[in-house]
Amino acid sequence: MTRTRRRNALWAFAAAACVVATSAGADENARLVVNGEIEMVTRTAAPAHLNGALPDIRSGWTFRTTETQALQIDDFDNPGMIFVDKAMDAWNSVEGSEGKSCSACHGNPMESMKGVRAVYPKWNEAAGEVRTLVMQINDCRVKRMGAKPWKYTGADMAAMEALISVPSRGMAVNVAIDGPAAETWAKGKEIYYTRYGQLELSCANCHEQNYDNMIRADHLSQGQINGFPVYRLKNTKLNTAHARFKGCVRDTRAETFKPGSDEFIALELYVASRGNGLSVEAPSVRN
Ligand code: HEC
Ligand code: HEC
Repeated sequence: MTRTRRRNALWAFAAAACVVATSAGADENARLVVNGEIEMVTRTAAPAHLNGALPDIRSGWTFRTTETQALQIDDFDNPGMIFVDKAMDAWNSVEGSEGKSCSACHGNPMESMKGVRAVYPKWNEAAGEVRTLVMQINDCRVKRMGAKPWKYTGADMAAMEALISVPSRGMAVNVAIDGPAAETWAKGKEIYYTRYGQLELSCANCHEQNYDNMIRADHLSQGQINGFPVYRLKNTKLNTAHARFKGCVRDTRAETFKPGSDEFIALELYVASRGNGLSVEAPSVRN
């Protein structure tokens, strides 16, 4: 597709309103310190594998309005924390045929899960696969607890993912993209740059080439996932990365891949790696 046609497609997408260069009332240089103690890196040098495709990497937080940004500064104001509390109850609950809770094997998640969110998706040697955090949680539920798996993008899963993220807040995202994960990563990269749907738009068309512009009423971010799962004001719940991917692909009027599909697992690894160096923020707050 030529440059002009691609630009036309983006304009077609935004026909209802417009794509305009802007600063939308967000303070992109604001500092995020959660609870007065967890210092977040919301803007930093892009990882080497991006080869200059982005001048620097920025958390989605830096694109939100001052009001939305404020909701993430203190856990008492962060609506996502209610779900973390619920997940703590689930963590301590016995379920399944083995009579076990998560805590029976993992103790206190604030200690045992420290650093885990930052390195997922991650290669699992025994299983011979790249595992997302969701896959790992369900693996424990099914194989270790004899319990039913949770729905990939469901409320229980999103909440548990958020709980496991909390002890890693402020730590740098650092997913491995080499060795046995390289193949999955390359597949994710290919998907990121493939144009889908009637509008023939790739993730990169919006989140690499047009971030910081307005699309409809939205201030386009770099589409980073260091804040996932994300509490969205729009649907007042926690949203997982795969649910977000699905929504974004659907906006290009394409048939979407399924949450939990090999395609989205690969895409998650690749998108996570674009944020290597940003802080784990989950549960973050977005519009
Ligand atoms: C019977 C013991 C047992 C129970 C119960 C259990 N797990 Fe696990 N879990 C393990 C073992 C063993 C591993 C590491 C082995 C592996 O990679 O599969 C693990 C690994 C994990 C990891 C990855 C940690 C890392 O460093 O990569 C996460 C996350 C996790 N479990 C979450 C949970 C959650 C959430 C629950 C409850 C829903 C749970 N587990 C229940 C035994 C258990
Ligand atoms: C037509 C433009 C468009 C395309 C194409 C698109 N997105 Fe988005 N995306 C948006 C908009 C608009 C938002 C909401 C504002 C924001 O956070 O950027 C968004 C948000 C996101 C977010 C949430 C970021 C945060 O911090 O909460 C992620 C992650 C994301 N997109 C990933 C993707 C991926 C991966 C693809 C490719 C499969 C993709 N997007 C394709 C427009 C697009």
